[in-house]
Amino acid sequence: MFNEEQRFEHPIRWGMVGGGRGSQIGYSHRNAAVRDGLFTLVAGAFDLDAQRCQDFGKQIGLDPARCYSSYQTLFEQEANREDGIQAVSIATPNSTHYEICKAALQAGLHVVCEKPITFTSKEAEELKSIAKAKDRVLGVMYGYTGFPMVHQAREMVERGDLGDIRVVTMQFAHGFHNIEHEKDNPGLKWRVSPEVSGPTYVIGDIGTHAFYLCEMMTGLKVDRLSCMRQSFIPSRAPLEDNAHVMMEFEGGAVGTLWASAVNAGSMHQQKIRIVGEKASIEWWDEHPNQLRYEIQGEPVRILDRDMDYLYKDVAGVASNRIGGGHAEGYFESWANLYHRFALAMNAVDHGDKQTAKTIWYPGIEAGINGVRLCEKCVESADNHSTWVDFS
Ligand SMILES: NC(=O)c1ccc[n+]([C@@H]2O[C@H](COP(=O)([O-])OP(=O)(O)OC[C@H]3O[C@@H](n4cnc5c(N)ncnc54)[C@H](O)[C@@H]3O)[C@@H](O)[C@H]2O)c1
Repeated sequence: MFNEEQRFEHPIRWGMVGGGRGSQIGYSHRNAAVRDGLFTLVAGAFDLDAQRCQDFGKQIGLDPARCYSSYQTLFEQEANREDGIQAVSIATPNSTHYEICKAALQAGLHVVCEKPITFTSKEAEELKSIAKAKDRVLGVMYGYTGFPMVHQAREMVERGDLGDIRVVTMQFAHGFHNIEHEKDNPGLKWRVSPEVSGPTYVIGDIGTHAFYLCEMMTGLKVDRLSCMRQSFIPSRAPLEDNAHVMMEFEGGAVGTLWASAVNAGSMHQQKIRIVGEKASIEWWDEHPNQLRYEIQGEPVRILDRDMDYLYKDVAGVASNRIGGGHAEGYFESWANLYHRFALAMNAVDHGDKQTAKTIWYPGIEAGINGVRLCEKCVESADNHSTWVDFS
């Protein structure tokens, strides 16, 4: 069982770009990062509006002098301080990730960036090179991959409990945008504007989450795909509010991905089903403490978090914060990931490359493949759903 004894001599001095007052995801980052005392929030450029950034920073207990009017000033000014930030999280709309991430890495900071990490895979590859050259950790916030049962699923596939994988169905299909809510909501409006959102809406915004679950649970690599996408709300065109993707994986397995914001009546419906030759597993983010395990010819089993029949220690650091039966959720998953980011950053800062390598977290490869998924889906969908190579 995890408890909060694991500490560094000094917590990592951490800042944020974006995630200010009224943002959707800012609190999730702050809550997760500071939960275990491994990060301390000391500075930020939280908002496009400088005054609101100051007010907000002050309200959450920061020195107003360290609440900056832009990310450039944040990086410059903090670099001049002995106690300046060592890491930054980027929680701004998609169009800004590349330039902010690049500037942060060049300033020598470890980075956690929101997804999709860039607009193009070329940009994402460039960030990978800079992170490598600067020896910095670059994490990507695929926040659902901190759930212990997701790691149990990965271990079951790895150990061959399902046999060879044949089929994977992925979906993230909510109903929250079944009408044109974005008309009077700026937080939604940018998501359907290509200049801010990028080449896709639902594929990048939510499809990448389900896709990454497949990648991390199965290790399968997409060989080629075919996509169709629609804008049921016409004003969202050319961006899609619904998409279906068919995939062929290397080695013969096949898969489908449904990403939608118009699945009326649905909450998240983020589900992944992995079908092997002997058995299948299914995980649903609305019931994240359970994993459905179906062996052909036997009664269905529902595996629960923190039970002795699970594989030991598969979720690694900072999992099972409380005993089985208590509901752990989204915030714990994020905190588990931030715990891993912190351990990796700390290991790198202490020149401990061996430890750094052993800590699993969603990194730049996950970021690159998420962006590639968007690119390839657009290429296919905008060419009559033709099959396109993934690489
Ligand atoms: N990982 C997840 O589960 C998840 C969930 C929701 C959103 N996201 C991602 O998080 C990012 C932000 O989404 P959101 O819904 O919070 O957006 P939002 O529009 O609600 O908030 C964006 C915030 O960034 C600030 N901002 C914008 N440009 C800035 C700049 N140049 N410098 C400083 N601050 C700036 C805004 O003032 C605002 O506070 C997006 O990339 C989105 O895809 C990820």
